[in-house]
Amino acid sequence: MDLKDSIRVIPDFPQVGISFKDITTLLKDGDKYRQAIDELKALVSHLQIDVIAGPEARGFVVGAPLAYALGVGFVPIRKSGKLPYETIEVGYDLEYGKDKLAVHTDAIKPGQKVLIADDLLATGGTIATSVSLVEQLGGKVVGAAFLIELVELAGRNKLSDIEVISLMTYED
Ligand code: PRP
Ligand code: MG
Repeated sequence: MDLKDSIRVIPDFPQVGISFKDITTLLKDGDKYRQAIDELKALVSHLQIDVIAGPEARGFVVGAPLAYALGVGFVPIRKSGKLPYETIEVGYDLEYGKDKLAVHTDAIKPGQKVLIADDLLATGGTIATSVSLVEQLGGKVVGAAFLIELVELAGRNKLSDIEVISLMTYED
């Protein structure tokens, strides 16, 4: 069965005009969740990765198991005010709304090769912000991996220097 059949599409959530791709229906199915992470692992196998960074919250459910599968560490990129140690922060626009993301200043060593992982690439704002945080710490972003890419929103154009890998694509 196609993994896409495990994604539930909710029209007009959280606002009219947004077609929400609900991954909870995939996550609750152990076989599908493992299949998704295994397939993503295969798609990034050509990259040299020292550590994976993933933005809160849905980036954790993709980035952390992928890091475990690859045997590398995981760095959480969190919304402002959540991390306890010294941080750097970058503000950004979302598909709907605004926010700030933060990372610990000692989370990534200069020169480390970093894969950024998230559930979904929409406008690319979240990942461009994550890239900026990683690069400010001296990390080298070797790729960005997603379960889902919303092609129409052209998020990959914001990531022109970075290899973008997605397991499933949607045209709307
Ligand atoms: C969603 C999704 C991606 C981001 C994609 O996160 O999980 O991180 O939006 O949109 P973009 O490409 O336009 O930036 P959201 O900020 O809704 O928060 P969550 O992961 O905490 O649910
Ligand atoms: Mg998110």
